[in-house]
Amino acid sequence: MLEYESLAQSNLAFMAELEEVAARVIRSGWYVLGKEVAAFEDEFARYIGAKHCIGVGNGLDALTLSIQALDMPAGSEVLVASNTYIATILAIVRAGHRPVLVEPESETFNMDPGRLPAVLTPATRAICVTHLFGKTCRMDDISSFARQHGLGVVEDCAQSHGAKLDGRMTGTFGDAGCFSFYPTKNLGAFGDAGAVVTDDDRIADRLRHTRNYGSAKKYVNEYIGVNSRLDELQAALLRVKLRHLDEMTSHKRALAGIYFSNLPEWVSLPGRRDDEFDVFHIFAVRHRERDALRAWLLEQGVKTEVHYPIPPHRQKAMAGILEGSYPIADQLHETELSLPISVGHSPEDIQRVCEIFRRVPDALRRTG
Ligand SMILES: Cc1ncc(COP(=O)(O)O)c(C=O)c1O
Repeated sequence: MLEYESLAQSNLAFMAELEEVAARVIRSGWYVLGKEVAAFEDEFARYIGAKHCIGVGNGLDALTLSIQALDMPAGSEVLVASNTYIATILAIVRAGHRPVLVEPESETFNMDPGRLPAVLTPATRAICVTHLFGKTCRMDDISSFARQHGLGVVEDCAQSHGAKLDGRMTGTFGDAGCFSFYPTKNLGAFGDAGAVVTDDDRIADRLRHTRNYGSAKKYVNEYIGVNSRLDELQAALLRVKLRHLDEMTSHKRALAGIYFSNLPEWVSLPGRRDDEFDVFHIFAVRHRERDALRAWLLEQGVKTEVHYPIPPHRQKAMAGILEGSYPIADQLHETELSLPISVGHSPEDIQRVCEIFRRVPDALRRTG
């Protein structure tokens, strides 16, 4: 059986380094917001090309605290892709605002900038873009729309560590770039972890307070904050993996190259653009008979995933929050299939998946 992903196998490659730094942190006696967090923040800011990095507890908090830091009037409208992962929308709601859905482009899965003018109202204050599956949004068009209308921009980079548009990293286009280091991410920790990058001194200062009860100085509370601190162990382990991130990305891009060259033409491949450096957090194909194809692949020994089975506007939790119909999101959620593409997979594994695809019965090949 070919697993969709094996995190243990991916992490074993760095075992000696990981064990060494874990022991160092345990011996240090200092476990939350210390030297390792400060060093990781410095190294990650440099990697992304941002002035500041603020470590937080997870990606959802990175988004929520960043949206709060924009200081918008309560109930402001925030534009967000209709097919994003639910966390992007939860962050807008948690920050006290109203998510307004914008349909994506089917080929790139990302927010369609051509649809922004139709959803703009006097209450619109920000755009929250998600660089879904490791692909970059059209930040040139989105940023110029935001500038024209005085909107804040928060980037959800939970799936786009190291992805670039015209040589510039995701996370550096908006007011804040929000990262998750959930274990399955391209830069994955060993538990929950997240970070915000920004060039804005005010936002950085606010986040340094709000992640820690609203306090940057012990027992002095300037804001209503939360407990969303990055711990020393995660930071130290992330520092090790950050040093290997480019080689992990190269590996995934090489695996994607095998899919692009070898999958049969009846599979709808993810869209590609010359100005984009896609990091393939997920290799998402589309097929009308997705569920039957997925079941057949499993019978042949290939595990796949679906990202995601239910679109946000159809989630029970979103009743009364997200209204209207979103046919492109519906269609993507019905047709998307995620193929194995992880650091733990070899080129031979991916060749094998492609060979199995060539044996798919005719009845399952129908496109459309
Ligand atoms: C697009 C997207 N946004 C936000 C999140 C939230 O990150 P976390 O799970 O670290 O809270 C995730 C990951 O789970 C994600 O994939």
